[in-house]
Amino acid sequence: MEVQQQVQLQKFNTLNLKSVAKFYVKVVSEHELLDALAFAKDQHLNCLILSGGSNMLLPEYIDGLVIHIAILGIQKSAENQDTVQICVGAGENWHEFVLHSTAQAWYGLQNLALIPGKVGASPVQNIGAYGVEVGDFIATVRVYDREDQRFKNLTAAECQFAYRHSIFKDHPTRFVIVAVTFKLLKVANLKLGYGDLRTAVGDDLSPENLQRQVILIRQSKLPNPSEFPNAGSFFKNPVIDDVQYQQLAQQFPQLPHYPQANAQVKLAAGWLIDQAGWKGKQLGSVGMFAKQALVLVNYADANLNDVQQTYRAVQQAVQQKFNILLEPEPVLFSANALIQAHQSNQ
Ligand code: FAD
Ligand code: EPU
Repeated sequence: MEVQQQVQLQKFNTLNLKSVAKFYVKVVSEHELLDALAFAKDQHLNCLILSGGSNMLLPEYIDGLVIHIAILGIQKSAENQDTVQICVGAGENWHEFVLHSTAQAWYGLQNLALIPGKVGASPVQNIGAYGVEVGDFIATVRVYDREDQRFKNLTAAECQFAYRHSIFKDHPTRFVIVAVTFKLLKVANLKLGYGDLRTAVGDDLSPENLQRQVILIRQSKLPNPSEFPNAGSFFKNPVIDDVQYQQLAQQFPQLPHYPQANAQVKLAAGWLIDQAGWKGKQLGSVGMFAKQALVLVNYADANLNDVQQTYRAVQQAVQQKFNILLEPEPVLFSANALIQAHQSNQ
């Protein structure tokens, strides 16, 4: 384990924000993770867990220890007639693992192809796309519990997965994820219900074609971070109660909506932003993407402050038109390496 100092993290975050870490270490094993945590304790440093950097907002200086998770390995850990369990190191690339699983005829994750980031971050916000959430296919998550000071396996139920949420969001400094065990199917059960996916798949009802079509749809809408630095959807889709939905639907009959449990309705933040006039609009070097209004792009050399000014302007426009406050999805870190609540200027 080699601890470096004053490390520039720009290339490690997909929004391309300049951010210098006072201390930085890459860990490739559980043993190295323990060494890194011991170093932080010794030096009285907070720790920021960095994975693929595709869902975080970093300040210009981080006065703490950035621990970059690079634990690799893919292993079959159990098998029965219908399913396989695959244990994957937290540092494995998510999309590469999805492609690998399909090639091995392990099914379930095809709808989640092309999501950036690493396997270890996938349970954190319970990544989801095209009608599937990763929590549906997780058996256990292996963590180091910094409170109990030991490694343990959390079951999927213990992870409390929900829309863009899990126990890891509720306890942001407690757990470091070192591996995820997936429970995948030997016979595919294609999920084709989302949007235009069924039409895109056409007659070829194979998991390979489903994966290919998901990739094509994503490429047609979402900007590639290496060309247009971004963090995917910048806001969560708001979930409101049915009474509020009925009122809005009277005023805006075209409002896309997705009924949820408990008389709740999910709305499309991208549509709200689009209707509020922000699709393809920029404030300084930061704007909302012209093909997908929910994606905030750093078009030049923006810093965190520039990003915050733009997203607050978007929040304000949506709030004025629809009386809904959009909640940012990426995780915001403070200068002392801790996760912070987003502040709106409402
Ligand atoms: P990071 O950004 O490095 O970390 C995210 C958070 O998780 C941070 O708080 C970090 O501290 C914590 N964390 C990371 N690893 C660990 C670990 N091992 N242990 C403990 N905590 C950890 N998301 C979706 O859900 N669906 C999508 O369709 C989707 N599309 C996207 C498209 C684009 C173009 C981009 C840029 C992003 C998209 N995202 C999407 C968001 C993002 O890819 C996911 O949230 C992804 O899981 C983040 O992974 P990461 O490795 O980059 O995590
Ligand atoms: N829409 C517009 N204008 C836009 C964008 C979208 O009118 O500029 C409308 C679309 O026409 C559609 C609806 O909004 O009716 C939903 O759009 P889309 O299918 O593109 O999905 P989304 O709600 O914008 C969500 C996730 C994505 C995920 C896709 C596919 C959230 C916050 N976002 O986006 O996840 O890939 O569905 O399942 O839930 C991410 O979290 O980073 C992410 C990219």
